[in-house]
Amino acid sequence: MTIDKGCPSRLSGDSGITEKGGKNMTWQELKDMCNGCNRCRLCEGRTNVVFGRGNETADILFVGEGPGRQEDEQGIPFVGQAGQLLELALVSCGYKPEDYYIANVIKCRPPENRTPFEEECNACMPYLRKQFSFIKPKIVVCLGGVAASNLIEKNARITGLRGRWIEKGGTLFFATYHPAALLRDESKKIVMWQDLKKVKDKLDELRSAE
Ligand code: URA
Repeated sequence: MTIDKGCPSRLSGDSGITEKGGKNMTWQELKDMCNGCNRCRLCEGRTNVVFGRGNETADILFVGEGPGRQEDEQGIPFVGQAGQLLELALVSCGYKPEDYYIANVIKCRPPENRTPFEEECNACMPYLRKQFSFIKPKIVVCLGGVAASNLIEKNARITGLRGRWIEKGGTLFFATYHPAALLRDESKKIVMWQDLKKVKDKLDELRSAE
């Protein structure tokens, strides 16, 4: 299977978090900083910051777009309908909870679940970058166009990126549909299932080569 070489990852390098402890900070300090964040106006409408969940040293980092209503209420990513569909797909493809961590490009819910603006994604990126540096995943899976265009290739469409492996700085990047897209278009379900199976197979291959 071919692996394309991508431009440098937006997740590597200095996180850009320059506040106290930026370099030596702990997960808890990062969470605390994120919980108090006011780097963009989305902080004004949030109930909770949705930081992330899962194994903090996982081999796979899934990245979605941003919290919806239920995620905002509970402070946990992918707990709504789309999240339940994702969970079902992951379990049926053989993923174990310890295999992955799930986060979003933006940590606060946009009004009416609109697509986040570029400046909101940029303002939030240092948190994701720092999460990436703590987790050190082998694979980053972008769920949907917002994650893919922020992390793999700016202005690219999900239809062009999905299903391909792109290597950036030693990490493999992969994009598939956002689970919410499956709720609108059932025909995407089989494709996403196949994509997630492909990622699981790659994970098993990388682990057995260790
Ligand atoms: N959609 C996302 O992109 N992220 C969530 O956490 C929930 C829904």
